[in-house]
Amino acid sequence: MTTQMILDCDTGVDDALALIYAADQGARLRACTVTHGNVGVEVGTRNTLTVLDLLGLGTVPVYAGASRPLAQPLETSEHVHGQDGLGDAGVEPSTRQPTGDLAAVEIVRSVREAPGELTLVAIGPLTNIGLALLLEPRLPELVCGIVLMGGAVGVPGNVTELGEANIWHDPEAAQLVLDAAWDVLVVGLETTMAAPMPDEVLRRIERSADPRARFAWATMQGYLDSYEQTLGRRTCVPHDALAVALAIDPDLATYRCVEAFVETGRGRTRGALVGDLRRSVPVPSDPTAPGVIRIVDRFDTDEFYRRVLASLGA
Ligand code: RIB
Ligand code: CA
Repeated sequence: MTTQMILDCDTGVDDALALIYAADQGARLRACTVTHGNVGVEVGTRNTLTVLDLLGLGTVPVYAGASRPLAQPLETSEHVHGQDGLGDAGVEPSTRQPTGDLAAVEIVRSVREAPGELTLVAIGPLTNIGLALLLEPRLPELVCGIVLMGGAVGVPGNVTELGEANIWHDPEAAQLVLDAAWDVLVVGLETTMAAPMPDEVLRRIERSADPRARFAWATMQGYLDSYEQTLGRRTCVPHDALAVALAIDPDLATYRCVEAFVETGRGRTRGALVGDLRRSVPVPSDPTAPGVIRIVDRFDTDEFYRRVLASLGA
């Protein structure tokens, strides 16, 4: 069955790969909503339009959203994604404008219009989703569920010792998402960092003449530099594409449920997603219980990268 999704993104390099993957692998993109995160929301919105243009998906509506987190100042990650959020590779930006600038309102409107049909896929900080939950407390009943890239359950963070960017950028919004009674599939660094891009995949992207691969290769170079510094070899991690892959085809992984919360204190663990790994239980337990998340147990990395290559024509 085709996954109909609203993709909430902060379009930087790996968000772009996720959009390319979604387009090729049969997702039906009802809308893209954009949040602050990797870059400011205006830049992220422009990048989303640019990638959709590349994919010939100019009819997918794009809504700009939150320009800052709920309860802390804005911080962005140009040092990873480039000043333009697309690796400063000289990509020609879209000249189109977003359809609107109230992403949270549009999320609510879309799910009310098609109750039970849409999956929310969040690959940036959760501010827009948190605001949508505040506007429409029945949001969890109106969607199939939410798949989010975020957190680092039981592994190091990528912004602080324990903090992963998407949760760390807006911990209060993330807690709103966890507190709601819906199926929250969390694809965190415990999964994504275990699946760095293999050398052969990089080589095939580099060699492909497909415009999507050319775009990916050009925009990835600074991202590869950044991962080379932390991992000690030239690779990168397409976090967001992995979350989108599981939203489209949940059979690429097995799962378990854990109770979880976000550290919202002001100390240095602020923004950590804490999962209670002492009491992990196999699915099915009730993944819709508030404060319970699903995390990935085993992930089919080989099949995922076969599909990544297909999505890039590489
Ligand atoms: O931690 C990785 C996540 O943070 C990805 O979604 C990346 O795009 C950034 O938003
Ligand atoms: Ca992202």
